[in-house]
Amino acid sequence: MRTNAFPPRLALVAGAIGLLGAVTAVVVQIPASAAASTLGAAAEQSGRYFGTAISTAHLGDSQYTTIAGREFDMVTPENEMKIDATEPNQGQFNFTNGDRVFNWARQNGKRVRGHTLAWHSQQPGWMQSLSGSALRNAMINHINGVMAHYRGNIYAWDVVNEAFADGGSGGRRSSNLQSTGNDWIEVAFRTARAADPNAKLCYNDYNIDNWNDAKTQGVFRMVQDFKQRGVPIDCVGLQSHFNGNSPYPSNYRTTISSFANLGVDVAITELDIQGGSASTYANVVNDCLAVARCVGITTWGVRDSDSWLGAGASPLLFDSGGNKKAAYNSVLNALNAGPTISPTPTVSPTVSPTPSTSPTAGGSAPIRGVASGRCIDVPNASTTDGTQLQLWDCHGGTNQQWTYTSAQELRVYGNKCLDAGGTSNGVKAQIYSCHGGNNQKWVLNSNGSISGVQSGLCLDAVGTGTSNGTLIQMYSCSGGGNQRWTRS
Ligand code: XIL
Repeated sequence: MRTNAFPPRLALVAGAIGLLGAVTAVVVQIPASAAASTLGAAAEQSGRYFGTAISTAHLGDSQYTTIAGREFDMVTPENEMKIDATEPNQGQFNFTNGDRVFNWARQNGKRVRGHTLAWHSQQPGWMQSLSGSALRNAMINHINGVMAHYRGNIYAWDVVNEAFADGGSGGRRSSNLQSTGNDWIEVAFRTARAADPNAKLCYNDYNIDNWNDAKTQGVFRMVQDFKQRGVPIDCVGLQSHFNGNSPYPSNYRTTISSFANLGVDVAITELDIQGGSASTYANVVNDCLAVARCVGITTWGVRDSDSWLGAGASPLLFDSGGNKKAAYNSVLNALNAGPTISPTPTVSPTVSPTPSTSPTAGGSAPIRGVASGRCIDVPNASTTDGTQLQLWDCHGGTNQQWTYTSAQELRVYGNKCLDAGGTSNGVKAQIYSCHGGNNQKWVLNSNGSISGVQSGLCLDAVGTGTSNGTLIQMYSCSGGGNQRWTRS
């Protein structure tokens, strides 16, 4: 559960890392003797990371965890944070395996890239059969639900994955998401920014490595347009699955620098090279090192036997026996020969990061409805578990005073918590003895809505009611005045 997974100290460390990551870098000389002996440490010398995809399937394999724990400093869950894994039934989120990868990363001192929130592939069956506004709302609800769970603890999210078509069109891929309207990608990014302002937001795709490809140009124009119009986007992920049909292109560095020049970070997010050429691996690393905003490289797996392509493709840096391959040595050497960067001294490393919970955390205050002007109230000042909340005239009584804790609870009377009675539309918002469960954790969103960490649903005045006695329930977030609240 989240309480155990993210003690406040770790959240602060994560925030501090994010802060340092944003700091302007300066290049300094280091002696050759400082060469690092692992990929992560070697990449860190230039302020970059070297990551891997991690799969729960191998977390019980000590050879795998030993190599991954030693070599990499960034983790992407290979499948565990995808839509089918995190929302198998509509409105019911499941973070079991996502948390297993996340916790393994955290316990081993690594940051996490979230992958992925909106994608045509690996959708659960219920989402595949949706269309139109129902699908659009489900996408928004999904982004809110998953990002709320990991809020403040993810380095970067692949918000949208693989939305462009292969071939010569340079246009969008047809998919159920695309059919909801061309603005689906920007809606996804705006939703993501509000859901977790501390995460970098990336667009991620394959076959956008060759600068001359129409697909690359199409994605470039979208990012350019987003930057011009203020659509929140922080990074582009080049998956970089290289093989005979999609080889490493000689203009790869041009592609990286061209995206970076738009004012976004560039990350190589899913690197594998069929055949495992040591010189091609070195080229990829050198191209990244040549562009200041190429922030890191992730290989899509640890050993060849872990690769989604099968061991026969020999695409990774460790062989199926866990031995370092020639490509490993060429990558390590290239990283060690790269520039070294340290954060500029003008920013104190002791600056506190923005709290990962909410700027309004702490203190006891009423929760006042924007549409009604009335307050969330425990009827008759009851202390009975299961009592459903209501709207009532604000009067400052203890049954209307809510404290937002660092564990994301909303407490009343000190020991009772605002508690979601379930995860589907229409369930009660009630009081219950505090127990640390995710149905008692809340995100105070920037638009004033209050969403449940477990369900992603919002606190909602039933029937858009505004009168005394209107009950409070959980409902799909709509942004309506009956779901927006102020705390003062
Ligand atoms: C792949 C995983 O590696 C496989 O285990 C899974 O069966 C299919 O997905 N682009 C992506 C990744 O963005 O999520 C894909 O991962 C590989 C291609």
